Amino acid sequence: KRLLLIDTDPGVDDAMAIQFALGLPQFDVQALTTVFGNVAVELATTNALRLLHLAGRADIPVAQGAAHPLAGAFNGGAAFVHGDDGQGNTDYPPAPTQAVAQPAAELLAEVISRHPGQVTLVALGPLTNLAHALRLRPGLVHEVAEVVVMGGNAFCAGNATPAAEANVLSDPDAADVVLGADWPLTLFGLDVTQQVNMPGAVLDELARLTGPLSAYVGQMVPFYRRFCERMRQIDGIFVHDATPLAYLIAPELFRFVHHPVRVDTSPGIGRGKTWPAPSDPAQLQRPALRPWLGRPNVKIAVGVQGSAVVSRL
Ligand code: BDR
Ligand code: CA
Repeated sequence: KRLLLIDTDPGVDDAMAIQFALGLPQFDVQALTTVFGNVAVELATTNALRLLHLAGRADIPVAQGAAHPLAGAFNGGAAFVHGDDGQGNTDYPPAPTQAVAQPAAELLAEVISRHPGQVTLVALGPLTNLAHALRLRPGLVHEVAEVVVMGGNAFCAGNATPAAEANVLSDPDAADVVLGADWPLTLFGLDVTQQVNMPGAVLDELARLTGPLSAYVGQMVPFYRRFCERMRQIDGIFVHDATPLAYLIAPELFRFVHHPVRVDTSPGIGRGKTWPAPSDPAQLQRPALRPWLGRPNVKIAVGVQGSAVVSRL
């Protein structure tokens, strides 16, 4: 079994990803850590605890993480995408359980170090907790088995702004740290997640599933679906956050390139854009490419068999 740590800001598609991870025999979810993003971090924690409670997995610890980016303030979230509660305005009562006292970055570092080479870190929100964990314990880069990130837009436009994807835009400084760390990281940006389109007919089928967690997720999806259908002009939804998990069970459905990546951390209109540079070391000597020099190659997903992924979810 693959040990997973899921860092998340639930979020409707985060909830779907967590449901998927909990349901698969290939995965053993060790903990959820929460971060500001779609909602304030306190609400992200409430939502994570509720998802585990409804799944009958209250044994899995939840640790609360960053309330704001490395620099600056929380931007207020994405209620127009995920609802005021982050869960499609379902307004379910909170779970009777509580988060552990340990901050997210400490728990991440501790769990990874406890099982060297065995833990896959799955990042589904802004990368702030990962940046804090790297500061706390730089040796994590050698201890983690793999890091899979939903975030960025290497070769396509953004979704939060024309330049940037929402998770990266929420903390570009943290993203630049995390993508610059020399660890085995794979980036699942909009390049692929916008090809993982779960059509309305599949959602209608999923809505008929019973069981406390399925019923809850089924009730939260319509809000997010309305957003996707109106604002993105698609039938159904993009399943952004489940995409890196699908990769973990079916890597053959994806195609990758390898490039050093920088994140635009300027306050201008390009803020949050992920920029891949040529990976050829000779080219990186050019003065114009200095900002990328010495950065590790990031494995970037650029192709996906979207409908095959959807059929595995
Ligand atoms: C990402 O932003 C959030 O709104 C989603 O949960 C996903 O993680 C997509 O850009
Ligand atoms: Ca998310």
